[in-house]
Amino acid sequence: MTHAHIDLAVIGGSGLYQFPGLENATRQSVDTPYGPASGDVVIGDFAGRRIAFLARHGESHTLPPHRVNYRANLWALHHLGARRVIGVNAVGGIRHDMGPRTLVVPDQIIDYTHGRYTSFCDVEGAEVRHIDFSEPYTSSLRVALLEAAKRADIAVIDGGCYGATQGPRLETRAEIARMKRDGCDLVGMTGMPEAGLARELELDYACLALVANFAAGCGDEAEISIEEIFAHLAAATAGVPPILAQLLK
Ligand code: HPA
Repeated sequence: MTHAHIDLAVIGGSGLYQFPGLENATRQSVDTPYGPASGDVVIGDFAGRRIAFLARHGESHTLPPHRVNYRANLWALHHLGARRVIGVNAVGGIRHDMGPRTLVVPDQIIDYTHGRYTSFCDVEGAEVRHIDFSEPYTSSLRVALLEAAKRADIAVIDGGCYGATQGPRLETRAEIARMKRDGCDLVGMTGMPEAGLARELELDYACLALVANFAAGCGDEAEISIEEIFAHLAAATAGVPPILAQLLK
C-alpha cells in the first residue's frame, strides 16, 4: 500500500527508537527487493502533519551499524511516499566546539566504511548511475532544518564534515587524529551509505547529528563509556521533536 502523502520521514538512530508524540500511528511492514528493513515503518500524525518513522537499529537496537539494511530502509520510505528524510545520527565530536549534547547539521561527508551495499546499482541488471554527490545533503532541507531549530530556540551548529566509520567498535586515537587531519568534525557509524542511497532515490535528505561524546583523544577522558554516551544522547534527543515540529510548520 502506498500512502498518498507523507510530509517527512525520520530515521531514528541510537537513543531514538520511537518517535515521541506520534498520534494515530499505524505500522507498515514493507517488502523490499533488498530484503527486510530495520523494522516496521510507523506512520502517524505529528504537529498536524503525517510523518513516517523508522528505527535504524530496530526498535530494540538489535542491528549494529554495519548490519543495517540501508537500501531496504530508504527504499521502504520512498515506496511509502516519503520525499524528504531526516536522518538522526548519534556521533562523536572531533571539533572542539562539538562536545557532548551539541546538535549539528553537517554539510559534508567522508566515507570510511567498507563491505556495505552502497548503491541500488549493486544488483544484476541494474542501470549503472554515477550520481553527483558534491553536496551530499540536500541544501534546501539543511536550511529548513537550521531555520526550524532557530524558531524552536535550540542551538544547532551549521555545517561540519561527518566521517563515517565501520564500527561497531569506537575508534582509536590515531584513527581520530587521522580523521581530524582529513577534515572530519564528527564521527559516526551510520551516515553512509544512507546519504548516498537517499540521493540515488532522489530523496531530499539531511542529517541531524547528536553529539554523544568527544571522539577518542578529543576530550579529557582516557576511555569512552557507553553509559555516558547514552546519558548525553538522551539529553540531545530531547531537542529533536521540537525542531521537527517547527520544520513541519
Ligand atoms: N565514534 C563513532 N560513532 C559514534 C561515536 C564515536 O565516538 N559516538 C557516537 N557514535
